[in-house]
Amino acid sequence: MLLRIPQVLNPQQVAHARQVLDKAEWVDGKVTAGFQSAKAKNNAQVPEGHPAAVELGDLILGALERNPLFISAALPLKVFPPLFNRYAGGQAFGNHVDNAIRQVPNRPQRIRTDLSATLFLAGPEEYDGGELIVDDAYGAHSVKLPAGDMVLYPSGSLHRVTPVTRGARVASFFWIQSMVRDDGQRTLLFDLDNAIRQVGTELPNHTAFVELTSVYHNLLRRWADS
Ligand code: NI
Repeated sequence: MLLRIPQVLNPQQVAHARQVLDKAEWVDGKVTAGFQSAKAKNNAQVPEGHPAAVELGDLILGALERNPLFISAALPLKVFPPLFNRYAGGQAFGNHVDNAIRQVPNRPQRIRTDLSATLFLAGPEEYDGGELIVDDAYGAHSVKLPAGDMVLYPSGSLHRVTPVTRGARVASFFWIQSMVRDDGQRTLLFDLDNAIRQVGTELPNHTAFVELTSVYHNLLRRWADS
């Protein structure tokens, strides 16, 4: 499932993030790339653990904890501390798949990357190119969202970022280990949760509301790691 999550950050939070990032240190993005992706990757990144990345990462994680659409779609178990990147002057990231396992810096913790997230911090009017292209069984999907919006997609998908030919594309990117590792099962739970919400709104006293809620939780119990 590829899903847009609107307004994870509000315009004030985006403006603050951009101010902090303007003053941050930027290094070659290859520092966090794997062997294959290092060959394809050409961008700049704020170093992992840099105070700007920590401050803004906490802002994003706090916003996600309060975002019902994110919780329902990702069923997060662990979220990697958000990283920040910038593409300008023709920079791009060729086709790659994200590493399956990520070591959390300075912590004895590893994350299995079930879902990849890109949170756009520059508006589409600020740059040309810079589309995130994600391949799935139905073809190639082009993603370029308003600042503050986020896209979630399965980490196993081949994806790339097209060259930025004007302006700068600034974004946060990170990974999520879900309680439900299988994308198909997770998508079924998300669809069921949406349907239950509708039934709960329109027919709150119907016995099916309780029964469907029970099915949801019993499927989650069957499929989830916690
Ligand atoms: Ni990637």
